[in-house]
Amino acid sequence: MFNLAVLVSGRGSNLQSIIDKLHLKDKNIEIKCVICNKKDAFALKRAKKHGIKVYFIDERRYNDKKEYDKKIIKVITNNEIDLIILAGYMKVLTPTFVKKFKNKIVNIHPSLLPAFPGLNAQKQALDYGVKVSGCTVHFVDEGVDTGPIIKQKAVEVKSDDTEKSLAKRILNYEHQILPEVIELISKKKVVLKKDNTVRIKE
Ligand code: GRF
Repeated sequence: MFNLAVLVSGRGSNLQSIIDKLHLKDKNIEIKCVICNKKDAFALKRAKKHGIKVYFIDERRYNDKKEYDKKIIKVITNNEIDLIILAGYMKVLTPTFVKKFKNKIVNIHPSLLPAFPGLNAQKQALDYGVKVSGCTVHFVDEGVDTGPIIKQKAVEVKSDDTEKSLAKRILNYEHQILPEVIELISKKKVVLKKDNTVRIKE
C-alpha cells in the first residue's frame, strides 16, 4: 500500500479530488491521515465523511514553528507515510521538516511556476497581465514554491477574467494533475535527476 498524508488548511477541494480519484478508486493508494492547522477547515469534514483519520494540530499550542513541525513529523512517522501532499496548506514548512522528508513532499500551486510563487497567485497573474497561467505540482524544497517541477497545466487567461473566474478555471486542472502525479509517484514513474529536474517515465 502507498500511504499518503494530506496537509490542508481550508476548503479541501484538492483533498476531495484525491479522495475521489485515488483513495476510493485505486486499491494501492490510501490516504492514511489528513493533518490540518485550522479548526474550522471544511477539508476536515470531507476527510471525516470518508472515515479518514484527521489530526487538527492547533498552532497556538506550540511555542514555535519548529515545535509545531516536530509534532507533525511524529504523526507522519507513526502513520508510515510514503508521500506528503500539501493541498492548500497555508504554512511554510521548516527546513528540518523538508530535510527529513526530502523528495517525499509535493505541493500544488495555482500558477505556472516559477512565475507568481507565494500567496494570491491568480491575482498576481492578472495584475501582471499574462495571457496564460495555470497550475504546477512540484517537489517541495526549502524555498517557497521553488522545488523541482513535476507537472504543469496551462490555462488561458481571458480578457474579462476576474480573480475568481481564473481561480475556478485553474482549480479544475489542479484536481486533474495532483492525483495524476500522486499515482505516477506511487508507481515509481517520477524520476528526480541529478540536475534537479524531473523526468516522467512513460
Ligand atoms: C488551491 O488553489 C491550491 O493550488 C492552493 O490553495 C488552494 C487550495 O484549495 N495551494 P483547496 O483547499 O484544495 O480547495
